[in-house]
Amino acid sequence: MLADRYPFYLANRPRQPNEDLPVVDKFSGEVVTRVALSSAADVEEAIAAAVRAAEPMRKLPPHARQAILEHCVRRFRERAEELALILCVEAGKPLRDARGEVTRLIETFKAAAEEAVRGGGEVLDLEVSARAEGYRGFTRRVPVGPVSLITPFNFPLNLVAHKVAPAIAAGCPFILKPSDRTPVSAMVLAEVLAETNLPAGAFSVVTPRLADIGPLIEDERLMLLSFTGSEKVGWELKARAGRKKVVLELGGNAACVVDKEPGAPLEAIADRVALGAFFQSGQSCISVQRVLVHTTHYEALKALLVARARALRAGNPRDEATTLGPMIDEPAARRLEGWIHSAVARGARVLTGGGRQGALLEATVLEGVPTDEPLHTEEAFGPVVLLESFESFTDALRRVNAGRFGLQAGLFTNDLSRAMRAWDDLEVGGVVVGDVPSFRVDTMPYGGVKSSGLGREGVKYAIEDMTEIRLLVLKQGPSR
Ligand code: SIN
Repeated sequence: MLADRYPFYLANRPRQPNEDLPVVDKFSGEVVTRVALSSAADVEEAIAAAVRAAEPMRKLPPHARQAILEHCVRRFRERAEELALILCVEAGKPLRDARGEVTRLIETFKAAAEEAVRGGGEVLDLEVSARAEGYRGFTRRVPVGPVSLITPFNFPLNLVAHKVAPAIAAGCPFILKPSDRTPVSAMVLAEVLAETNLPAGAFSVVTPRLADIGPLIEDERLMLLSFTGSEKVGWELKARAGRKKVVLELGGNAACVVDKEPGAPLEAIADRVALGAFFQSGQSCISVQRVLVHTTHYEALKALLVARARALRAGNPRDEATTLGPMIDEPAARRLEGWIHSAVARGARVLTGGGRQGALLEATVLEGVPTDEPLHTEEAFGPVVLLESFESFTDALRRVNAGRFGLQAGLFTNDLSRAMRAWDDLEVGGVVVGDVPSFRVDTMPYGGVKSSGLGREGVKYAIEDMTEIRLLVLKQGPSR
């Protein structure tokens, strides 16, 4: 199903040097394919090509950008099952999750195709004082120029799509560096882009060694760096990025509050919390990590959630029945297992799970985790969820805000005034009422505050970052 070897793409064309990067099946641990390795010189060449492509990309009419994105939508639909299988192998995603990601890839490109022709601007009446009489202003958005895009392993297609599709819609040439653990899906996406008439040099998808990526962060000819990945790396990159704009989509330890209402639909809430916590083994920045439950519902919801965690089928992600796959690698699973042990040593109780076989960590539910334990303060990025109870809604909001992350939060309540209070007071990029924080639709603004990042993705919002306002001022002359 996978090719033996994939090229990388430099200035729209495949390159197949001798050196390559092994890609491991995340379930079996075996090398299943290889992707050609880019050198430092390739990175330089990609940047130079993107700089040359800036003008042709800017001049590419919106309908042509739209046609390119629509071509991608068609081809992704045709290749959907192949893409899902690639995700399944290179990222260890159960097929159900992998197919869901391919659907989102298609939706993201579709949204970008629509945005590409939306353009628009403002007409400004500038006559704010006597000295400005006769002046009018008009704005439109122009592409910032070449952009640098760096993506993680957890959504190897859709988080690539969230950078690539807006770049095309905005008219920015780009250089993408996908995660070296999951580069294959990005290369299939590049193969599809190479079928289009994007101007020469408009895109490169490269696979340099860590030591060779410096120019993608520091080169002043690149006008924007968009990074999704770990908190630590993200803020370090920003410090090195010089004058370019920087967009950071970083981590979180998302909380979900279940309020006290009588008759709350606890079965349905448990379904959503279990999905939000264990979907793709919790490897999502908005995976449910902390559940704060009002004391009236605590014991009942705990039992329901534990039952759902136990009902998951762990195993080979290629098996249609599997609902819990491996984490990205064994060190990641060992790291999280260590955090569980550390919390247990300080009094936390494992309600279910906690075991590990290689990279497969059981779906784990804990309670009583001390608030200064890594499981509480850090991003777990694995299939682990912590339960805690609360009495006062004010206290629950305070606890959601404790700590340095602020990506999304979920709140189950029917009380509109509480929903509005949460929206006012929670220090996050988005509050989801009636569902888990893991909810994301690809057109909504998505991003965090505090340590969770800077800027917003979601197609329209990414395009805003990749463009800037250009103003035209017109002074009306005397009438003749
Ligand atoms: C992320 O992990 O940041 C992305 C979550 C999503 O797109 O659903």
